[in-house]
Amino acid sequence: MDQLATPWGAIELARHPAESREGLRAFDAADDYLLRHLADAEVDLSGAAVVLGDRHGALATALVAAGAHDVSSIGDSFLGRAAARDNLSRNSVDPAAVRALTTRDAPPDRADVLLVRVPKTLALLEDQLRRLAPALHAGTTVVGAGMVKEIHTSTLRLFEEIVGPTRTSLAVRKARLIFAEPRGSSAPAPSPWPQRYALPDDVGVVSGRTVVNHAGIFCADRLDIGTRFFLQHLPGSGGFSRIIDLGCGNGVVGLAAALAHPDATVLFTDESYQAVASAEATARENGIADRAEFRAADGLADLPPRSADLVLTNPPFHTHRATTDATAWRMFTGARAVLEPGGELWVVGNRHLGYHVKLRRLFGNCATVAANPKFVILRAVKR
Ligand SMILES: C[S@@+](CC[C@H](N)C(=O)[O-])C[C@H]1O[C@@H](n2cnc3c(N)ncnc32)[C@H](O)[C@@H]1O
Repeated sequence: MDQLATPWGAIELARHPAESREGLRAFDAADDYLLRHLADAEVDLSGAAVVLGDRHGALATALVAAGAHDVSSIGDSFLGRAAARDNLSRNSVDPAAVRALTTRDAPPDRADVLLVRVPKTLALLEDQLRRLAPALHAGTTVVGAGMVKEIHTSTLRLFEEIVGPTRTSLAVRKARLIFAEPRGSSAPAPSPWPQRYALPDDVGVVSGRTVVNHAGIFCADRLDIGTRFFLQHLPGSGGFSRIIDLGCGNGVVGLAAALAHPDATVLFTDESYQAVASAEATARENGIADRAEFRAADGLADLPPRSADLVLTNPPFHTHRATTDATAWRMFTGARAVLEPGGELWVVGNRHLGYHVKLRRLFGNCATVAANPKFVILRAVKR
């Protein structure tokens, strides 16, 4: 558990799921800087406050502590929303005090204060700012926050173009704030997302098919090279009937499985709402939605045991190493729990990630289906 000293008192915060082993905090210097600014500048919090991209609920929890009573929080992450809910409760606030919206929900009609934790991708920032722009008026206080390494000239250009004149603060403890003054007129162009692209012609059953991508998802504008390798080696036979695309992104892997196994149902699941919406759009686009289900969740948590016979995954990587390791482990343990005896987990990953060690430990077996200099495809069978 972490304690954040806000100008309105200390609040207790934790991530979801609590991964204390990794020593990762549930807030950072950017959250702290933003909250101090709100108090120092005496920002009026009595109107409609909207938080975009709060990581683990630190901002929403602090706003309620500051006396704000009309708070909406918009996020793309299932884990972030779960953390925010838990953190509100932890601080004796009814989670219903904050309107929790996903990035796919209709945005609030009005924002008198808009706080933006700069997201990892510029595309998601653009998409969300364009969706929120009609809620802004000339008197809206817009403050962005991020670590210095997350804020680029292109980030500021987006605020300038979509919101209005933009400047930045000095850096404090490697965090920076962004101040944008809404023009209050002439709504900017709508979001250019979702976008679609056609798959190459060397990826088996999905060759030439179209995938649909909402802003900010993994490989939103091109096929990942690891996924491409996976698509070239997916099981084409085996009589699988209940398939899960775990960490589905735009759903390309589950689509391939659905086309290769015409009698199977496929569950597409991801912790990103943008990803789940993309997978659903991809499934509709390719005529398989009637035997598909879509779910935003942490891995396979809460699915019934023995409810699948094939789980396919390209686990997340590139974020904080400890986090991705923990996520892969949760995904693999979840797969073991939901597979029926004889069911299979297929994983693609960078060779250096050493997934075979985890799989062997969990399943007692692990075979290499294919390998190239960069990637390996592994198969573990539930005994
Ligand atoms: C490497 S991408 C693969 C996406 C897609 N399957 C592909 O190959 O293009 C990993 C995906 O896992 C998702 N993810 C990350 N953490 C997750 C979690 N805890 N539970 C479910 N999905 C998660 C990410 O949002 C991302 O879409």
